[in-house]
Amino acid sequence: MSKPTLLQTGSMMKLIEDQLAAAFDVIRLWEASDRDGLIAKEGARIEVAVTGGHAGVKFDDALMARLPKLKIISNFGVGYDSIDAGAAGKRGIIVTNTPDVLNEEVADTALGLLLMTVRELGMAEQYLRAGCWAAEGDYHLTPASLRDRKLGMVGYGRIGKAIARRAAAFGLPISYFGRTKQADVSYPFYNDLVAMARDVDTLMVITPGGPSTKNLINKAVLEALGPRGILINMSRGTVVDEAALIEALRNRTIFAAGLDVMLNEPKIDPVLMTLDNLVLLPHVGSASVHTRNAMGQLVVDNALAYKARTAPKTPVPETPFKAW
Ligand code: 8YV
Repeated sequence: MSKPTLLQTGSMMKLIEDQLAAAFDVIRLWEASDRDGLIAKEGARIEVAVTGGHAGVKFDDALMARLPKLKIISNFGVGYDSIDAGAAGKRGIIVTNTPDVLNEEVADTALGLLLMTVRELGMAEQYLRAGCWAAEGDYHLTPASLRDRKLGMVGYGRIGKAIARRAAAFGLPISYFGRTKQADVSYPFYNDLVAMARDVDTLMVITPGGPSTKNLINKAVLEALGPRGILINMSRGTVVDEAALIEALRNRTIFAAGLDVMLNEPKIDPVLMTLDNLVLLPHVGSASVHTRNAMGQLVVDNALAYKARTAPKTPVPETPFKAW
């Protein structure tokens, strides 16, 4: 029996690639010197696409138009802002992502980044490793502490809730911002982000990326957060107006920030690396072997569901599954 043709846009974990190669005829787009030519030549027989990773290909309507037999785009990552899911829905293409299996890992990382930023843990370690502890004495007492902070969640979905559970255990009062108040959530709700930023001093950003949240954290929000303010971003670089953030950190109109995500990863704005009140992580929110294996298996299972003509495990809301 001939294998269905699968377009893979970028390199992936061995766990994914081995299983895909066994079940599909895989076209490795990122290895082609002429990607456009490859799509022109092979596009008509591609039924499945596997994509993802924040440095991946943009899966827009123009690309989908060149893949007339495409039935499913299986994305590696819970965030699928690199795929135009609305356009896929109109074309009858199912988009799947990797929700839930990464919630706890990303939440752990979020609390780690918050602690690093508030208590300067990365800088304190550098101080020790540079020999300064023995030579110069104790690291300075950190001006910031979690003890007197109020946390505002920007996004209160599945990962946001896992973060909030941890933050509550740390004793932080919690509020959340979103489009609609959630039933069964008793934390104070804001549909006005500036108002929430004014009432808290710590913002945790864990909202989806894409056009609807572009520059959500803008100059006005940072001003409202104020000089004690700390911003943590675990979602996508696009959600923060990076120029406004750099200005706020430089002028110390906010206290500090911690970013797991930035614009133009991995070639980020070098200015970010010069700021001493900014903690930077290289997009490692979900990056443990344990969690990436679980995400990878979902990517494979969703692609295999098409081959077996069974229901995909995790279609995104814009492309509900009915039948193949
Ligand atoms: C990954 C992520 O970094 O799931 C997401 O949306 O941002 C991360 O878990 C990415 O998807 C894979 O590189």
